[in-house]
Amino acid sequence: MERQPNYRFATEKPDHIMVSISGDAKTSMTVTWRASINVENGYLEYYEKDGEKMQVSAIVKPFKSDVNTSNIFWATPQNLKPGTRYYYTCGSAENRSAEYYFETEAENVTKFKFIAISDHQKDTDHYNPDYNALNAFLKETLAKHPDIKFILTAGDNTNCGQHEIQWNAMFEGMEGIIEYYPYMMACGNHDNRGFEFYFPEETNRYYAEPAAFFNTQLEYSYPKNGPEGWQTEIYSFNYGNAHFTVFGVNEPELMNEWAKKDIGECGKTWKFGSHHFPVYYAGPNLSNDDTYPMMREGMEMLDVLFSGHEHNFSRSFPIKNEELFDRPSQGTVHYELGNGNFNPPGTKTTDKVWHASFYPQEEQVSMYALVEVDGDKMRITANLNDGRVADEFVIDKEKDEIRPYRTAPIFGEGRTRVFYKGMDLALCNMSTPAVCRDGVWYIALATMFRFAGGEDIREKGKVTLKIYGKQATFTEGESIAVTPDGNVDLGYEVFRGFEGQLYMPVDASCKIFNMKWAYAARNNFITVEHASEHHPIVPQP
Ligand SMILES: [Fe+2]
Ligand SMILES: [Fe+2]
Repeated sequence: MERQPNYRFATEKPDHIMVSISGDAKTSMTVTWRASINVENGYLEYYEKDGEKMQVSAIVKPFKSDVNTSNIFWATPQNLKPGTRYYYTCGSAENRSAEYYFETEAENVTKFKFIAISDHQKDTDHYNPDYNALNAFLKETLAKHPDIKFILTAGDNTNCGQHEIQWNAMFEGMEGIIEYYPYMMACGNHDNRGFEFYFPEETNRYYAEPAAFFNTQLEYSYPKNGPEGWQTEIYSFNYGNAHFTVFGVNEPELMNEWAKKDIGECGKTWKFGSHHFPVYYAGPNLSNDDTYPMMREGMEMLDVLFSGHEHNFSRSFPIKNEELFDRPSQGTVHYELGNGNFNPPGTKTTDKVWHASFYPQEEQVSMYALVEVDGDKMRITANLNDGRVADEFVIDKEKDEIRPYRTAPIFGEGRTRVFYKGMDLALCNMSTPAVCRDGVWYIALATMFRFAGGEDIREKGKVTLKIYGKQATFTEGESIAVTPDGNVDLGYEVFRGFEGQLYMPVDASCKIFNMKWAYAARNNFITVEHASEHHPIVPQP
């Protein structure tokens, strides 16, 4: 039989039913659903056990997708009682949903649980993705932790979010789950991804900016408190003594300005963030240039920043301004959620200098993080579907400590380490540490380039370096580098240092190759970054 996309068009009966927090979770809750375009009105009927039935009418807006137009409904009852279970049905007078329930947040909550998942997108089959495994995995998880208050994601909720069939599949995968538990999604790069022609052959890939399908379908599902023009993909909400800042994948500078205010004014004990792209990533070929350092100020006001994208797990030391610390008050813990839906790894990954914990998740397993907030203590456990625990740690704000203890590296004087994209050059830099002369940093660039897969062509007193399509020749005793585009003033002379290697001033040299660098003074290491995701390999003629 010929393969067909599974369109699963909206019918008169409500589907895509989802509970979410769009305001004060103590007194309100939003129920979102979808129905066909000829259903013009809808309402939520809700009641407490043994209570009177109440109704609230829904906001209705047409959603024009790549294949169809349907209506999206949002109903937000207000003045609810805190800490109360409400039973509800949604839909039109003629077509009602089954009965579900949600619970409002209690007063003065300082102890609660939630789960975080990421990258539960599915691409098998590309035109009819099957989310059954996710559904079973989450139901199993919720059976273990029925008292969680909501599900937070770090994006890639769908594999191609600019196509309706992808949302259909994801919502189907969440059936029996998000009718009960608020589903707080962050937008990932796959959620705003689309193809101009999708079926039968996808061509002309694009990324919607803003994330059109995400923002349209969820317009009133989440708080409309993000920067103008970038709602709903950017928003924040509160639960108990915690604040959650959900970053989108677009407009890092704007997000930073918004986040500084949003986080600065939240007045909560715990400040969590979710941002799809990991700032302190595990891929040997990634970079944090897309968001960092543009979002550094906002992100570094957080206790924990959840991310995803790479489909592996890692947890960083507390980090501030590229320096690695031990105590939670000293920086932000970057927490990369493993893949939530048995997906293959997105890329190869490796342990990095900034990781306190790492698990590559190259096995086809699924992961969720259980977050347990209790006053000024908080535990996060990274659980695999088969019962193994990839990581567990506790932040204790009162004691200002993280357990289990990990000590961020501090390298010795005269032993300044060099890292490339967070990877220790160890062997090739064994006896060639970075050198600081009169406040200027120099590194043995040829050894680093060789490690990174670049070429180093050596002649007497000279070396020509090639990487990522750039080339430069450095000469001992000269402050000029020769490139195919002309001479570049390095500002300082190249000199012969440890092991007879040529040492280049790091700042000007890195610029030639479009690289960035930073010196982490506390830890005494230099990291060099390059935005390219290519893997440099020296060609073999
Ligand atoms: Fe992903
Ligand atoms: Fe992604």
